[in-house]
Amino acid sequence: MIKNKITADLACRQAGVRRRRAKSNKIRMGELHNCILAAFGSSVVFACCILSGCEQRKRASDFTFTEHIAPIIHKNCTPCHRPGEAGPFPLITYQDVLKKAKTIKRVTEIKFMPPWPADRSYSTFLGEWGLTDEEIQMIGDWVDNHCPPGDPSIMPPPPRFPEHSQLGKPDLVLKMKEPFMIPGDNKDHFMVIKIPFELPSDTFIRAIEFVPGNRALVHHMNGHLVQYEDARKKNVFEGKYVTERDTSHTLEMCYNDIRLLNDDGSYPLLTVSVANYLPGMGPIVYPEGLGGWKVKRKGAFLMRDQHYGPTPVPSSDQSYINIFFSDKPPVRQTMETQLGTLGISEIVPPLIIPPDTVMTFKTHAVIQNDIALISINPHMHLLGKSYWAFAVKPGGDTLPLIRIPEWDFRWQYTYTFKKMLHIPKGTAIWAYGTYDNTTDNPNNPFFPPREVSDRRQSMSTTDEMFQFIMTYVPYRPGDENISLVTDLNLDRK
Ligand code: HEC
Repeated sequence: MIKNKITADLACRQAGVRRRRAKSNKIRMGELHNCILAAFGSSVVFACCILSGCEQRKRASDFTFTEHIAPIIHKNCTPCHRPGEAGPFPLITYQDVLKKAKTIKRVTEIKFMPPWPADRSYSTFLGEWGLTDEEIQMIGDWVDNHCPPGDPSIMPPPPRFPEHSQLGKPDLVLKMKEPFMIPGDNKDHFMVIKIPFELPSDTFIRAIEFVPGNRALVHHMNGHLVQYEDARKKNVFEGKYVTERDTSHTLEMCYNDIRLLNDDGSYPLLTVSVANYLPGMGPIVYPEGLGGWKVKRKGAFLMRDQHYGPTPVPSSDQSYINIFFSDKPPVRQTMETQLGTLGISEIVPPLIIPPDTVMTFKTHAVIQNDIALISINPHMHLLGKSYWAFAVKPGGDTLPLIRIPEWDFRWQYTYTFKKMLHIPKGTAIWAYGTYDNTTDNPNNPFFPPREVSDRRQSMSTTDEMFQFIMTYVPYRPGDENISLVTDLNLDRK
């Protein structure tokens, strides 16, 4: 048997978005060449006021792009809305923002952007996205006031980000050997892909970042690390690199195709979930000593179920991973456990959602030893409506964990606490998930609605799941004071 830290094949796991705080640099004046209006600054604002004849615009007229709006956009939007990242268009320059001004006003008002489905008044996490009410108001007023550009001489420079990474300059980049040609057959494809490697010696890895090559079509990926004893695998590069998994082609067959096993047919060591991906998500890094991996010289990164979404036109993908080494061994290995589907606790009632119903399910587990909780990951699919998890300590005190008032399948972060959370032995962890299997749910994959459940234990998004995944270490006194902010992964707030 392959050694699994957890039994489940975690579908759609992902890492929380972690962005490096933008470091400012030179002004790019070229980007301003279109802002003809800028030169006129306040007189433009004045003209707008006369044209619309509105007293109430006076307050709004104070806001300009250079002074007020650019800093908000650069900090909260540009990390994703820039070339090569998840946002579908750039939001960097005045022109970029002007083109989308009305939509930006709308999506910020309804808090669809920046995407952070968790209720920030219930619990807070590292790197959380969100605008203050004041910032939302400023954007709205500025748009209503026809987007005055402001004084170009004080235009803040566009933020700078590490290239091809959200973390920095990787020590090693491992790319898929060849681009995978995604057929234009309008079907999902679940691929099993290996990226073998041979390092000069056994070493320590601090962080692994998966970077999708084709952001439009890579839907999710669960990344695992395969490690070989030197003597048991002569050539890690032999065999095919890519194969497809479906109902008739099992995982075992796939492993044979890509020659993943040891030369004698036994299974190598597999460490699961070293890097996971869903659209918009970034890598997770913990402070030195926490997490990380001791790795053998010979190995492979296993992209199990690299899920390509349907496309009517052929396309291609060549994803890669960035590796950040460490000189220190991991001191405290993180552990994972999950409640619900494929996990340690029963769902009550069983997760079967009849058509035309809105139903709530719950699951709970009692923690057997003191733990320091690092991150949590609520998981549901398309029928998800809301999610709520909390802990009840042995004395009866309640610890809020997370509340997601409006579940959004697109944003499934691994929510990392700013400091580890001490969960004493005997604490009960509760999770409640509400599912909407009516026609009111715009994401319902079936019309008319059908019975949906987790009984097939498939990863298909049209089946359901109800999971609460926790990453933790055994508790040591003082853990609750350790900040999880790292040099690679600065807290935005
Ligand atoms: C974590 C990454 C991320 C951040 C941060 C982010 N966006 Fe987005 N944005 C996306 C992605 C991905 C989409 C595409 C969503 C989709 O198609 O479902 C998107 C879509 C949009 C859209 C199009 C929505 C529509 O209905 O067509 C707008 C407008 C937008 N973002 C504006 C913003 C603004 C303004 C900010 C900052 C205040 C921001 N975004 C921050 C990732 C991000």
